[in-house]
Amino acid sequence: IEVEEFDLVVFGASGDLAHRKLIPALYHRSQDGQVPEHARIICTSRRDYSDDEYRKWAEDALKEHVPDHDPKSLQTFLARLRYVKIDVGSGDGYDSLKAILDERPDVIRAFYLAVGPDLFGTICENLGKAGLVNGMTRVVIEKPIGKDGESARALNETVGKVFEEHQIFRIDHYLGKETVQNLMALRFANALFEPLWNAAHIDHVQITVAEALGVGGRAGYYDTAGALRDMVQNHILQLLCLVAMEPPESMDADSVRDEKLKVLKALAPITEQNNDRLTVRGRYTAGASAGGAVPGYLEELGHQDSTTETFVALKAEIANWRWAGVPFYLRTGKRLAKRVSEIVVQFRPIPHSIFSQEAGTITANRLIIRLQPDEGVQMQIMIKDPGPGGMRLRKVPLDMSFAEAFKVRNPDAYERLIMDVIRGNQTLFMRRDEVDAAWAWIDPILTAWNASRDTPRNYTAGTWGPSASIALVERDGRTWAEDEI
Ligand code: BG6
Repeated sequence: IEVEEFDLVVFGASGDLAHRKLIPALYHRSQDGQVPEHARIICTSRRDYSDDEYRKWAEDALKEHVPDHDPKSLQTFLARLRYVKIDVGSGDGYDSLKAILDERPDVIRAFYLAVGPDLFGTICENLGKAGLVNGMTRVVIEKPIGKDGESARALNETVGKVFEEHQIFRIDHYLGKETVQNLMALRFANALFEPLWNAAHIDHVQITVAEALGVGGRAGYYDTAGALRDMVQNHILQLLCLVAMEPPESMDADSVRDEKLKVLKALAPITEQNNDRLTVRGRYTAGASAGGAVPGYLEELGHQDSTTETFVALKAEIANWRWAGVPFYLRTGKRLAKRVSEIVVQFRPIPHSIFSQEAGTITANRLIIRLQPDEGVQMQIMIKDPGPGGMRLRKVPLDMSFAEAFKVRNPDAYERLIMDVIRGNQTLFMRRDEVDAAWAWIDPILTAWNASRDTPRNYTAGTWGPSASIALVERDGRTWAEDEI
C-alpha cells in the first residue's frame, strides 16, 4: 500500500534497536518500493557523525542484519539518510533539526524515540518547545512504558502534554508479527472457529514465549524489570487479548482496542491471597544452551543481590461470560530449552465416544498458533488410520507452515509497524487506557511477590523452567504442550 511523503526522525539512531531492527526494517520497505521518492530519514544521537559517517554506520548494520541485500537498493536507501547531532540532555541540536524539517512543513512527520524511557519526557517537551510538533506529527515510543501503573501514568501524562492520543504510537512489536495478525484473520475471516471459541468448547489456552538466550549484556536493565514486566505486561497480555476479545465492530483502531481493553479489565486479580496458587517465578542457574556451557543469571549480573525473575508462569482467568472457568496458562522465560512462541487452544473432549476400546484413545482437538521460529498454524484432529485393519483412530496435524506455503520473505514486525505510523493507523498500537489496565493487573502481582518471603526458584539453563511451573498446570490435570513444541 502506498504511503504519503514523510520525514522520519529517529532518536537513538546509533543504538542497538536502530542497528538490529529500525535501519533493516526501513531498508526493506525502501527496497520494496514503499518509501516515497522524497522521504527522508533523519537520524539523531549524541555522537559526532557527519551524514556520510552515519551512512557508513547504517551500511555496516545492513551488512550484518540483511546479508542478502541488493547493493543498488542499499545505495538508494543510504542516500535517504541524514544525520543531526542532538544532545537530548542539554537540548542542543534541535535548531539544526528544525532547519531541516522546516524545508518540508507539509509532509507527515514522525519522531521515533528509540531511547530509554527516562528520556521520553524531555525529548517530547523539547520537540514542543522547538516548535516541531504540528497536526501532521506523530511520535513513537517503545516499551517499557513505566515500571508500574503509577510511573506509566506519569510517563503518558508527560508525553500527552505535547502530543494528542491519536498522535502517540506505543509500539508493542509482538503486534506487528505476522502470525499475531494472523490470529485476527483466523478468528474473524473464518466461520469455523468463532462458534466454538468459548468456555463451552475450549478447555484451556496456553501461551508460551520461550527464549533460549540469556540476558547477556542487558542484565543492568533486566534486573530492574524481570520477566513479568519485560514480557507479560505487554507482549503476552496483548496475545491473550487477541485470543480472548469479542469480535470488534471493524479493524478500526479504536474498535479493536476497545475490545482488548474489555479483556484486560475482566482479568481476575492475582493478589497476596491467591498468588501462591497462580504464579511461579524462576531464575536460571548455570547450564547448557545450544550445546555450550552458559553462566547463571546472577553470574551475568555480577552480584548476588537480586530477586528478579527470569521466568514466570501464571494461571490467568478472564472473568466474563465467554471465558469463565477457562484457565489461560501463560509462561515466558530466558534460557529455556529452545526459542519458541506459541498459543495452544485446547478444545474439550468429545462428549461421547461411539468407538470401541480397540479404536484407541481419542485426543481432544488442539489448535496451535506458532509465532516463531517456524510460523504457522496447526490443527490437531482425529482420523481413521488408513488401511483395512478396522476402525483405528489416530491423531494427525493439519499443518500449515507459512514459510513452506508462501515461500516469501517474512517481514519483520517493525516493517509493518513503522509504515502504520506513517499511515496513521493505530490498530496495532497500544492505547493509553490499555497500558493502564495491563498495569492494573500486574501491579498486585508485584505487590504480592514483594510481600512474600519466597524468592524465584532456580532452574538450570536450557530446561523448561522450575518444576513448580509444571505443577501449576498438572494440579489442574493438564500439561504444558511441550510434546508439540
Ligand atoms: C523484548 C524484551 O520486548 O522482546 C526482550 O525486552 C525479549 O527481553 C524480546 O528478548 C523478544 O522479542 P522477540 O521478537 O525476539 O520474540
